[in-house]
Amino acid sequence: MLRAKDLLGLRETSAEEIHEILNTAELMKVVITSNNKKTPHLQGRSIITVFYENSTRTRMSFELACKYMSGTASNISASTSSVSKGETLIDTARTLDVMGTDVMIMRHPMTGAPHLMARNVKAAVINAGDGINEHPTQGLLDMYTMKERFGGVKGLRVAIVGDARHSRVARSNIYGLTKMGASVVVAGPPTLLPPDLDMLGIDVTDRVDDAVRGADVVMGLRIQLERQKKGLFPTVREYHKYFGLTEDRIAMARPHALVMHPGPVNRGVEISSEVMASPESKIDEQVTNGVAVRMALLFMLTRQKPETGGIHI
Ligand code: CP
Repeated sequence: MLRAKDLLGLRETSAEEIHEILNTAELMKVVITSNNKKTPHLQGRSIITVFYENSTRTRMSFELACKYMSGTASNISASTSSVSKGETLIDTARTLDVMGTDVMIMRHPMTGAPHLMARNVKAAVINAGDGINEHPTQGLLDMYTMKERFGGVKGLRVAIVGDARHSRVARSNIYGLTKMGASVVVAGPPTLLPPDLDMLGIDVTDRVDDAVRGADVVMGLRIQLERQKKGLFPTVREYHKYFGLTEDRIAMARPHALVMHPGPVNRGVEISSEVMASPESKIDEQVTNGVAVRMALLFMLTRQKPETGGIHI
């Protein structure tokens, strides 16, 4: 069971809850890799994805996860909602709530937007990425991918490489991995490393080779190319040379180390096409595992909401 109504971040999720989510996802993975992707777990339940930022993986995997479990999945975006006519976030959330929604999944450019929504609706709220704060389901699917390969996360050395300053993926992974007993090192250009990162009990360096050497997992982060315009790194070519995940660099990690990336990828910038295509790359597996983890979460969050009866004719 999850303690809270919502899943807003891994900072406030316990190691026991993370264990339970990952174990449940293992059962769900059997469903999505079979030829009968249909279970009754969400029958009679309804979810809405409320995305104020673009997404391919997160939104689609939530919607598929719901459909695979026989639930009703709908979606709304900022441009198609009455937000564009001036409606507030809270009024939009309450409107969707009184339509009988069981779970709302929100992505928003502002840190804390899903938390505000969660305080104002009866539905369970899942944070699908808020500003530069957290992207908890990405952190969970990343840990699931590591567990699948190594049997667990405890004792692993995980190198996270790239723009940690603006990365909600990095933050959720740091909270989750350290809680689960992994050691984490973050590497990137000094301009893209937040100053207080070492307060989170991890190692921080601007030398990628030092971070990658001996790592069990090397995770690249997406470079947001607009950062270059702001002068936070010189050129894309230079970035790739000094901070990109190349074959030479990955060879410094432990034999058979996993290479991961949350996507979307800027090929040839944060990671080379050769590394993406290598057997060590788990990028496709991460996407598949994202569906399993989101099925697990939808199941767990709706299970703890009491049945309200339904129609009796
Ligand atoms: N990793 C991730 O969140 O991808 P999307 O932006 O495509 O959802």
